[in-house]
Order: sequence, then structure tokens, then C-alpha cells
Amino acid sequence: MTSSDQLSIGIIGTGGMGKRHAVNLHQHVGGARVAAVYDVDPGRAHAVAAEAGWPAVLDDPLALVGDPSVDAVVIASPDATHAALVQECLRCQKPVLCEKPLATSLADALQVVAAEQALGRRLISVGLMRRFDPQHLAVREIAASGRLGRPILFKGVHRNAAIPYDARGEVILTNSASHDVDTARWLTGQEVEEVFVRGVRSHPSFSEETIDLLLLQLTLSDACLATVEIYAAAEYGYEVSAELVCQGGTVQTAQPREAIVRAAGVRGTSVPADWLGRFQAAYIAELAAWTRSVQAGQPWNGASAWDGAMALRITDACAQSLHSGQPVPLRPLERPAAYA
Ligand code: NAI
Repeated sequence: MTSSDQLSIGIIGTGGMGKRHAVNLHQHVGGARVAAVYDVDPGRAHAVAAEAGWPAVLDDPLALVGDPSVDAVVIASPDATHAALVQECLRCQKPVLCEKPLATSLADALQVVAAEQALGRRLISVGLMRRFDPQHLAVREIAASGRLGRPILFKGVHRNAAIPYDARGEVILTNSASHDVDTARWLTGQEVEEVFVRGVRSHPSFSEETIDLLLLQLTLSDACLATVEIYAAAEYGYEVSAELVCQGGTVQTAQPREAIVRAAGVRGTSVPADWLGRFQAAYIAELAAWTRSVQAGQPWNGASAWDGAMALRITDACAQSLHSGQPVPLRPLERPAAYA
């Protein structure tokens, strides 16, 4: 680590997510500081620097990774940049928290896993932050206690107010459904063995290649099923929920401390506009846990490179199923010992 006791973090990509991580690190995470930022748009990098304690603004992402004053790296640039930047972090032996997805192809993700294994040190963490969301953790705790019996069905719902990026089905699968398939694996402790996916365009005004409403059916390894609804243009707001149906009862995410408002003829609770509001507690908890794991060598309890690659393996199979109209089996893979 650098001279100060604080972990010095470099952030690549200072758009919505990079800015959120930078400001959260600066304001909410003890033991870490933002040391450097890079964005292809220097104006954005400078604007975020002004809100995150005036780190250095660099003009080259590889220079940021290699900078001796940077102890660890957060990657929050677009999906297609992730795999190469993570490889650079491995080359420089820098711990990295890479936003999901780990890569945009399974081949690239598996190469990243192989490179980390060859290094013989776990340096990669993947930003599948639902693993730090208090609502999801509460579900996991009850499921893990065993008092409801074995999980037999996972039901996930993932709705965006407006299509965030490219709305082709395979992009929504890689970019958005990666969270849901990871949640299904993490909450059940099971692997996905078969996928079957249907998708439609919800509004006729969308371009013809748009598929923004997807239904995923998954078969998991211990006779458990899963369904996931991904609706990327739901208009009314952003919502994510997860329910586990177990042999002896069900457990579902619930909004804590929500107040019911009665006004203008309506009784109800609010819906966040986007993920930044819904998952703020999870983003902070994820960064805090990652900082502790890097600084104190504590085990990382978030998603590993293996988990990131498995999410891509499943969403790749989902894209195949979407296009073929057929179920796609996934043969069991042995988890490498390094990721036990
Ligand atoms: P964004 O479009 O708001 O920001 C991306 C930023 O990267 C922009 O500032 C852009 O100028 C910059 N950029 C573009 N090319 C670059 C390059 N080659 N090198 C460095 N910077 C570059 O996108 P957003 O929403 O911030 O997404 C960034 C990443 O975070 C994506 O990979 C996305 O999948 C992930 N994400 C994760 C979320 C989560 O809940 N874990 C939520 C939203 C996004």
C-alpha cells in the first residue's frame, strides 16, 4: 500500500456508476480514498474529481492501472472494455473490482479466470452487488437457516423504467440478466443446468431488433426451478425482487422502513427511478467489504471471477435459447479449487 494508511483507489469510467462509486468511496467508506480517475471524456472525469476529493485525473487507463500510487482499481467503463482492463490489472498485480459483466463473451471471461488462476492469487472481484443488498441478504439468511426446507423455485423480477442501453435481447441478457442469474445461483447455492428463454418487443414504436421483455426459465442442479422476468422499459420505475419458494414456506425481499403515503386519491409507497436509488446501501456495503478484503486480506464474500464467468455462461445460453426457441442444456462444470 502507499504511504498513507488509506487504500488508494483508481477508478476507470466516471459515468453513472463510476461517479457513484467515487462519491461513495469519498463520503462513506473508511480506509479508502479515490487517488486517480480516468474517463474517455475528460470533462466527466474532472467533474467527478471535484466531488470525490480531487484525485488526479489521468489521460490513459493503462497508466492508471500501472501507477504505483494506485493500490487497487475499480472498473466502471462500458461492458466491452472490462475484460482487457481486468487483464491489465492482473498483469500489474492490482486488486480490481470490476463492474458486471466481467466480459462481453464467455471466451473472454474464461481467459480472465485462467489468467487469475495462473497468477495463483485471487485479485478479481465482480460488482454483482445484490450479494450486499440488505433485502437479498435477509432472504439468504432465512433460506440458509434451513427452517423452510430445501428451495424448489426462485422467482426474480427485474424492471427498468427505460431501456438503459442497446435493447437487443442478448445485450439485455448480458448486461441486466447477469444480476438475476447470479442471484439465483447465490440464493439457492445451486448451478444452472438448462435455460429456456422467450422475449418480445413491448412497444411497437421500438426498433425491430428490440427485445425488452424477456422471460427466463432455468432448471437448477438440485431439482429447483427458476423464473426471471426482465422488463427493460417498464416506464413506472425501477424494481427488483427475489422470492424463494421452499418446501415448507416462502421468503421474499421486502422494502424496509417504507412509509405508506395517502394523497390525491392514492394510497401507496414510492418506487425508485433507477438502480442508484434502489441499491445505494448495497453499493456502499460492497465497496466497504472490498476495501477490507484488499487492505486486511479478509476473504471476499462477493462475486469472484468464476461467478462472473458463470453468469456469462448462463446468459450466453439464454441468448442461444432466445434465438433458437429451444431449451439449452449446460453441462456441469467443476468449480476450480481456487474458487471453492
Ligand atoms: P455510463 O454510460 O453512465 O458511463 C460510462 C462511462 O464510461 C462514461 O463516462 C464514458 O465516457 C466512459 N467511457 C466510455 N468508454 C470508455 C473507455 N474506453 N474507457 C474509460 N471510460 C470510458 O454507464 P454506467 O451506467 O455508468 O455503466 C458503466 C458500467 O457499470 C457498465 O459496465 C454497466 O454494466 C455497469 N453498471 C452496473 C450497475 C450495477 O448495479 N452493478 C448499474 C449500472 C451500470
